[in-house]
Amino acid sequence: MKEKKELMKEGKRLDGRGMGDLRHIAITANPIKNAAGSAYIEWGGNKILAAVYGPREALPKHISDPQRAIIKCRYMMAPFSSLEEHGRVGMNRRAVEISKVTKETFESVVMLEMFPGSEISIMIEVLQGDGGTRAAGITCAAVAMALSGIPMTDLPYAVSAGKIGSDVVLDLNKIEDNYSDADMPIAVNPRNREVTLLQMDGEMTREEIRKAMDMVIEAGKTISRIQREAILAPYQKASEAYG
Ligand code: CDP
Repeated sequence: MKEKKELMKEGKRLDGRGMGDLRHIAITANPIKNAAGSAYIEWGGNKILAAVYGPREALPKHISDPQRAIIKCRYMMAPFSSLEEHGRVGMNRRAVEISKVTKETFESVVMLEMFPGSEISIMIEVLQGDGGTRAAGITCAAVAMALSGIPMTDLPYAVSAGKIGSDVVLDLNKIEDNYSDADMPIAVNPRNREVTLLQMDGEMTREEIRKAMDMVIEAGKTISRIQREAILAPYQKASEAYG
């Protein structure tokens, strides 16, 4: 059972948001020059870099698949990214888990059959963590993947929803994540609304989950627009330069 903390004040969340409001999101294209594609996201207090490398020959050889590319994914929090992480170096169980679920999200959209025998690497580095880093990492990595030119059938996004007391809320920040009654990160492929990641910490009723899902789909329109604008930005800059 989680410790209790007051997370609502006069019908609003402590940071002033309404129940279905997203935090501010900004994405920058290609900050890492030697990656095939990269992106930097600021999502509330989260600051996260994602870089995609490949497709290149899968190594060691025995992990390669002659029918399709394989995806490798590494999610890491920097030792200075939060008080909990302070000074810690290397993977922990949580990082292994988040790397795995992120990889599975991308396996659902990357056209792996186009690159048999190859590997595509996704690296996600959390520079500052403020709740919902797995969702922000997936949203950011999707932009990096698109910028790498590796074909995808859709542009996934992710966000978390949850429950504070009797209120269903969207996009929990760190303190909400820590003290909420439930927290449910979700990744969606918007074209067919396929859910490729759904985890849950806490308990919600069927009705609450339905409400949370509606919030996620509604917020997805905004998140997808921000992703698309970030992907188009370098091309717009180039066309202005030569225009
Ligand atoms: O980041 P996400 O919400 O996907 O994962 P979580 O495991 O539910 O953790 C919630 C938040 O706690 C993270 O976003 C981080 O801000 C923080 N955290 C941390 O700083 N170090 C950890 N080892 C675990 C969590």
